[in-house]
Amino acid sequence: MSEFKYDLAVIGLGYVGLPLAIEAANSTLRVAGYDINKIVVDNLNNSISHVEDISDQTLNDALAKELSFTSDPKVLGESEYIVISVPTPLTDYQPDLSYVEAASKSIGENLKKGQVVILESTTYPGTTLEIVLPILENVSNLKAGVDFLLGYSPERIDPGNKEWTFKNTPKIVSGINTKSLEKISEFYKSIIDNVVEVSGTREAEMVKLIENTYRQVNIAMVNELAILSNMLDIDIWEVVEAAKTKPFGFQSFRPGPGVGGHCIPIDPKYLSFKTRQIGQPVRFVELAQEINNSMPNYVVARISELMNKKEILLKNSKILILGVAYKKDIGDTRESPAIDIMESLLEKSVDLSFYDPHVDELVFNENSIYKEENLENLSNYDLILIHTPHSEFHEINFESITSLIFDSTGSFEISNAERI
Ligand SMILES: NC(=O)c1ccc[n+]([C@@H]2O[C@H](COP(=O)([O-])OP(=O)(O)OC[C@H]3O[C@@H](n4cnc5c(N)ncnc54)[C@H](O)[C@@H]3O)[C@@H](O)[C@H]2O)c1
Repeated sequence: MSEFKYDLAVIGLGYVGLPLAIEAANSTLRVAGYDINKIVVDNLNNSISHVEDISDQTLNDALAKELSFTSDPKVLGESEYIVISVPTPLTDYQPDLSYVEAASKSIGENLKKGQVVILESTTYPGTTLEIVLPILENVSNLKAGVDFLLGYSPERIDPGNKEWTFKNTPKIVSGINTKSLEKISEFYKSIIDNVVEVSGTREAEMVKLIENTYRQVNIAMVNELAILSNMLDIDIWEVVEAAKTKPFGFQSFRPGPGVGGHCIPIDPKYLSFKTRQIGQPVRFVELAQEINNSMPNYVVARISELMNKKEILLKNSKILILGVAYKKDIGDTRESPAIDIMESLLEKSVDLSFYDPHVDELVFNENSIYKEENLENLSNYDLILIHTPHSEFHEINFESITSLIFDSTGSFEISNAERI
């Protein structure tokens, strides 16, 4: 047991920070969760979780252990380890590290000798050394690697994934020097099954970007092949399924309406921002972004074509979007391609509705989209666009629906549907 009141302070209690705080408390660490959002903190202390994968019950059980939440930055000076998990969004299409800078400043103001700071927010290579380290040193007057230790560990959380969880997903760790790496590795080993050390923070930062860029590029490749296959009258879904049978050298990716969420559309932009500083574009990333970003328009074009064939005018037609979340079985609509599709359809004066068991309301650009509540009504629409392959949708009897159906996910065996 250390001289500090807490073993861990987590700064930023969102999708990444909250599961970490809970897992650490479940592993019998003494944990303080710190967030600037007082409503989030009050709710958490009342066992109300805002993160889908964490139920109120799980939170309640963890609160019975040594876990508490606060908006008082004093806790940052009272914990042996401090993990930063604040947002790293894009603002005006550029990486926005203002949250990381603010969090580093709050830590610096409270930092004491012997503390260990770990950045977990996704970012470009160099952030720990070039942004976090100088702020911590300048604000605290302490020396990094000597008075306090510092490192980076990327988060691999996959919302909605029941197989690969916080505990069994291998964790990459790094430090600014050997002592930092040792202490950081020791910490994660106490809460995660498999810890993988890399030589420096820049390498660890790059690991996250390579993982998400890999997904983005492969999704773009299969999307482009889906468009070409449609022109060549080849069934891309049959092709993907058949290619998947190769037991080596091939990992299958599925075409879809685009990419969404907090990581795939955003993280590769952090990489291209960094390489542009040295005058080099990441050509793969930029091309992949272009292709994936074009998919919502492609879906709209295919819908329009399908309706034309059936002599139904797109303008004033009734369309239902089935699933608006960016991926299966979760309710997160951040960066969801469904939003781009709906914007385009609204511009064409389509009468739009949505149904998503995980999303209660949908408002964007001051448009509030009507939520269909009754699945008996599906035949009342001119067209149903399946956007997200939620598990619940497998219970729908699509064969009995008389509306046109466009399945942009290719996940449903529907004889009367057109696929991407
Ligand atoms: N969501 C994911 O699936 C996922 C997966 C891997 C990595 N990441 C990365 O993890 C980081 C955090 O993402 P998230 O999805 O958890 O974000 P989030 O928006 O869900 O939560 C971030 C929290 O940080 C708080 N916050 C902001 N500034 C703060 C400050 N200065 N001090 C204290 N609290 C502050 C906010 O109030 C919010 O509650 C990002 O860099 C993201 O790219 C996210």
